[in-house]
Amino acid sequence: MFIPSQRWAVAYLSLAILAAALVSAQTPQPTTTLEMVTSAKNLPNGIEIQAASATLRITALRDDIIRVRISPGALPEDESWAVLPGPRGKSVDVQPIQSDSAVGFHTASLDVRVERNPLRLVIRDLAGNIISADAVGRPTRFQMGGFTISKQSDEHYFGLGDKTGSFDRRNQAFTLWNTDVAPQESVDPLYKAIPFFLAINGARSYGLFLDNTWRTWFDFGKQARDAISFGSEGGPLEYYVLYGPTPKQVVEGYAYLTGTPPLPPLWALGFQQSRYSYTPESQLRGIARHLRADKIPSDVLYLDIDYQDRNRPFTVNPETFPNFKGLVSDLRKEHFRLVNITDMHIAHAPNQKYSPYDTGEAGNHFVKNPDGTDFIGVVWPGPAVFPDFTRAQTREWWGGLYHQFAEDGVAGFWNDMSEPSVFSGPGMTMPLDAVHHIDEPGFAPRTATHAEIHNIVGLENARATYEGLLKLRPDDRPFVLTRATFAGGQRYGFTWTGDNSATWNHLRLATQMVLNLGVSGISFVGADVGGFNGSPQPDLLTRWVEMAAFSPLCRDHATKGSLPHELWVNGPQQEAIRRRYIETRYRLLPYIYSLADEASRTGIPLMRPVFLDFPEIFAPGSGGIEHVDTEFLLGPSLLVAPPPFAEMLDGYSVGLPRTTSWYDFWTGAKMASVPPVPSIATIVTAPAGTLKLPSHIHPPLETMPVYVRGGSILPMQPLIQNTDETPDGPLELHVYPGPQCSGSLYFDDGHTFRYQRGEYLRQKLTCQSDANSIRVNFSQREGSYAPWWKALEVVIYDWPNADADAKLSNGASTMKTSYDPKKRALHLLLPDVAGEANQDVVLTVIPVQH
Ligand code: GLC
Repeated sequence: MFIPSQRWAVAYLSLAILAAALVSAQTPQPTTTLEMVTSAKNLPNGIEIQAASATLRITALRDDIIRVRISPGALPEDESWAVLPGPRGKSVDVQPIQSDSAVGFHTASLDVRVERNPLRLVIRDLAGNIISADAVGRPTRFQMGGFTISKQSDEHYFGLGDKTGSFDRRNQAFTLWNTDVAPQESVDPLYKAIPFFLAINGARSYGLFLDNTWRTWFDFGKQARDAISFGSEGGPLEYYVLYGPTPKQVVEGYAYLTGTPPLPPLWALGFQQSRYSYTPESQLRGIARHLRADKIPSDVLYLDIDYQDRNRPFTVNPETFPNFKGLVSDLRKEHFRLVNITDMHIAHAPNQKYSPYDTGEAGNHFVKNPDGTDFIGVVWPGPAVFPDFTRAQTREWWGGLYHQFAEDGVAGFWNDMSEPSVFSGPGMTMPLDAVHHIDEPGFAPRTATHAEIHNIVGLENARATYEGLLKLRPDDRPFVLTRATFAGGQRYGFTWTGDNSATWNHLRLATQMVLNLGVSGISFVGADVGGFNGSPQPDLLTRWVEMAAFSPLCRDHATKGSLPHELWVNGPQQEAIRRRYIETRYRLLPYIYSLADEASRTGIPLMRPVFLDFPEIFAPGSGGIEHVDTEFLLGPSLLVAPPPFAEMLDGYSVGLPRTTSWYDFWTGAKMASVPPVPSIATIVTAPAGTLKLPSHIHPPLETMPVYVRGGSILPMQPLIQNTDETPDGPLELHVYPGPQCSGSLYFDDGHTFRYQRGEYLRQKLTCQSDANSIRVNFSQREGSYAPWWKALEVVIYDWPNADADAKLSNGASTMKTSYDPKKRALHLLLPDVAGEANQDVVLTVIPVQH
């Protein structure tokens, strides 16, 4: 980071220069407008249409995923950085449709028609409801090397990565061009380009993914209320329409196309402490000692750029870190993992025995100027060169640079400045005519300008790191954290929301950025806790920890010159609150890890908007839900409702979907009854859509309101101080009776790939309750992983009294029963239940009548 004000000024100035450069870089090209169908040819999986010189190929990858390719002439090369080759090669047979007015086809779920004149693509479900349709009177147009396409609009829009502005993208417009810039609330574009959005209209949702790496833009009805438009300054017009009907199906469909995230190491879900920068090494050791002494559960420490020699990536400053390997191993003994920053630039240091430069130069690995010389731009080390990550050989060379750190035992790596950020460049990046080389399986080898490659530099940088680490440590799950990325970036691990500020507004933004990233495929993400720029007020830091404890990446990070942000800095009272939330996160790790397993298989994000699990809140007439932009779900079971404007003295009401019952996570109280928390008033039923707490709740600083969905089985564990530690005691299963009651367990060794060879444990749990009994069903465990617990503690909420009769269908008897009258919770200690083939083991609990 520059001193912020300096940096913003440079950024704004550079954006202006960039815009001017763009205009002049365009070679005039004829405008092509898609007016009418001139001929059409059925394909087994779709249709190919001519509209004068233009070609449209519309094909079905699956019954619910339609691929649209349009070109002013012949179709361009068929390749993608984002969509996986597997799904791109898939197709389903379709039934052709032909009439005087339209041509097209239908699949088992969609009716896809191109109206002949004027040419208009309309996709409907089989009941005839329009899912997505070209806007009337706004034909697709190619001009100036780019294109514009418009669809009719009447929806709520989400996704598009890390954009700020309001949570719902409706009535807003955005540019996708990876940019290192702050302060986030007033600036677009930001660090990530994910040209995918989710549209929700009543009972139907669809997604649209524009597979184009150039500078793209999306207008969700800002210019014209009845139309959304999107386009690009270059590259192919190729997009996918993904049908739901539920938003979850859309998000899963997008993950099918662009990949699911890898299962992260368990330690990455622990608490992470960072700062720009802990130096010298004694300071980092002090932080480690303090965390352990204060019993703040934690797993990860970071080294930001100052550990390096003159900011040169892949070096260590011998004066401030004289025994780097010893430091790593000492921290490991204290159960800390170290993550090192390794920015994507390489110092331009010829003849200085700086091996990353020497080997990179020898292998011709750097991005070029149009005249063939290396492009040199100023970043942290001063003049720097930039690896050409679109070459497979360059990625391999880059991956090898981690050799020494990997050998030293550094656990994870942080790829920053990968927009790419170039302090001296136009728009804080490279000139648009900088030359990259594409040399990549599946692509025709060629050169490409920076205008085409810019948005995927972060993606390919993270890929190079991830794949390099896999080679160096084949049985260790890589941890890679990147700031810039593109669609598909989830395949290489974690990201964060960049340089936020220590303000209440940025705390609020953090939630909606993480949520929108989640529906854009990025499950493993967080915002710098406390805010990066500036120093948080004590209450702000506390509220931030409370929120981040329930977010996928929980990392405290701060810039140079800010006051310390570590959790102990504002005295024991604040620290105690913060500790309690981090402890809660560690107690919830069995749940969080099972969500990580789900994300790695389906792409459904851990932290998700309430509508992802409760799409009915957008049903016609439901009136939506209160605070949809600040409330969030952690998995299917927990709803977190932070104060939307926590800096204000006023209270707020919580919107809870009314299709289920809710419990207070902290007190165990069922929300349909009068909650015992004094600050929470009686619940009434709102006219539609939600259960509402009508009079405002006003949670004190130490309370982050968290609710549990009725019908949840929430696995928790005894408190540990780090993920190396084996919990001491039974695995807890907290049962909150309600409709469709379920939960799941996922465990493995936490850091290797043995789970892919069968060494894991997955178990589905369900429960049914009626007036007289509750039954908890344990299905048979999958996998061969032997768990750490020998006993289970089943806690049943909303239980009337201490008297209960419990029996297990496998003949085992409960070991102990107790009752917590304050929480109305029955505790049952059982021998572990691994389940049985062909039938569930059932725990039946019946109240004893006197
Ligand atoms: C960038 C990063 C920030 C980091 C700093 C120094 O501003 O976003 O997280 O601390 O660079 O490396």
